[in-house]
Amino acid sequence: MSRKIKVIAISGSTRKTSSNLNLIKGIARLTSDIFEINIFEGLSDIPQFNPDLDLETPPIQVADFRQHLKAADAILICTPEYAMGVPGTLKNAIDWTVSSMEFSKKPVALITASLSGEKAHASLLGTLLIIESKMTVDTQLLIPGIKSKIDEQGNITDQLTLGLVNKLIQSLTDLVLKDADTIEAPFLVN
Ligand SMILES: Cc1cc2nc3c(=O)[nH]c(=O)nc-3n(C[C@H](O)[C@H](O)[C@H](O)COP(=O)(O)O)c2cc1C
Repeated sequence: MSRKIKVIAISGSTRKTSSNLNLIKGIARLTSDIFEINIFEGLSDIPQFNPDLDLETPPIQVADFRQHLKAADAILICTPEYAMGVPGTLKNAIDWTVSSMEFSKKPVALITASLSGEKAHASLLGTLLIIESKMTVDTQLLIPGIKSKIDEQGNITDQLTLGLVNKLIQSLTDLVLKDADTIEAPFLVN
């Protein structure tokens, strides 16, 4: 590919000072020579999913979200866990793509960066795999204790985590550029 890889990045936390948003910004800096990262900022504007509204002309915010996903070569999701699950705004947005299938065959990297995050990570992997996201075991990463591993600018200060994030970046790049083998859902989901 002669151009940069277009990545749409979604933070499951809509907080202004979110560590997940900062992590995305940090990854954008780490990958600035290979990725063109566009941060999707409309997550909280997406209406509540309702199959009755999932028609040929969906709500404009939904159409915009789908268009951003469609235009990207890859999707990066960084999210915390809320109350042992996936943040509602993120799950809501993904639910709108089940019928329109923007995730299908699209290379996806998932980072759950939270206090612990295990349940949200497993749950989200199940969702991403059932909607046919293209993932490998190396394009998913759970980062517990995120707040002690990143600074306010999104620089990853924990060297082990930095290594794992770099590995994920490489794996996502490989998935976009090569026809890498993908994994089966039961391998990752509890
Ligand atoms: C309402 C609420 C519920 C939370 N529940 C969990 C949880 O179940 N598991 C967990 O690991 N962290 C939980 N946390 C902590 C967040 O994951 C943690 O603060 C994280 O850093 C937030 O991500 P952000 O900085 O990107 O907003 C919760 C935080 C909030 C506000």
